[in-house]
Amino acid sequence: MADSTTLKLALIVGSTRPNRFADVPARWVAGAAAERSDFTLEILDLRDWPLPFFDQPTSPARASGYSNPVVDRWRQRVGEFDGFIATVAEYNHGPTAVLKNAFDTVYTEWNNKPIGFVGYGGVGGARAVEQLRTISIELQMAPVMRAVHIGLEPSLGVMLHGKALDDYPYLAESRTAMFDQLVWWGNALKAAREAAALTAAVAE
Ligand SMILES: Cc1cc2nc3c(=O)[nH]c(=O)nc-3n(C[C@H](O)[C@H](O)[C@H](O)COP(=O)(O)O)c2cc1C
Repeated sequence: MADSTTLKLALIVGSTRPNRFADVPARWVAGAAAERSDFTLEILDLRDWPLPFFDQPTSPARASGYSNPVVDRWRQRVGEFDGFIATVAEYNHGPTAVLKNAFDTVYTEWNNKPIGFVGYGGVGGARAVEQLRTISIELQMAPVMRAVHIGLEPSLGVMLHGKALDDYPYLAESRTAMFDQLVWWGNALKAAREAAALTAAVAE
């Protein structure tokens, strides 16, 4: 049962093209998350967020407000969560431009929160996921060690042979491990953020 102390995670759907595969892992992650009582998971589908390619006059690390209302709403929305999962399509051995842009657009609201990755593609999105780990560290996030990598065989199994991701139990094992690590880091960092906010409030 979720209450105000339950960890709030968001699932960022990180590719937006028509016919994207991303919906398959997004549904699979959301379905398993619904069975968990230690966090809630809301979907932030980048299709619903027509963010401009970063065009603000100051770095998000220093900006307190943005001139674009969608960017402002995105920043506020990111700030509502204690941690994130992203679906990771691999485009030319890196993350999608739309996902990188969504990260670049915000700074403070990502800080001190964990993130996990669900990659897919020829090598399970591993090259894009590795880039996103370093990107997220620059955003002062904590990328968790466990991730889901949906490789060529399960990807083709789903796309071409009528299989479901649930037909590959090792993927579910990785998903559970990633959830568990997100909860551990999510709770630890939430407590640390709250303690820091209290200290700052007392000092004022
Ligand atoms: C522009 C582009 C570049 C791609 N580059 C890679 C790649 O480097 N590695 C890979 O494994 N798959 C690559 N693919 C194949 C994608 O893994 C596959 O199309 C996947 O479905 C993309 O995710 P999406 O359907 O959610 O957009 C590429 C696809 C596109 C459209």
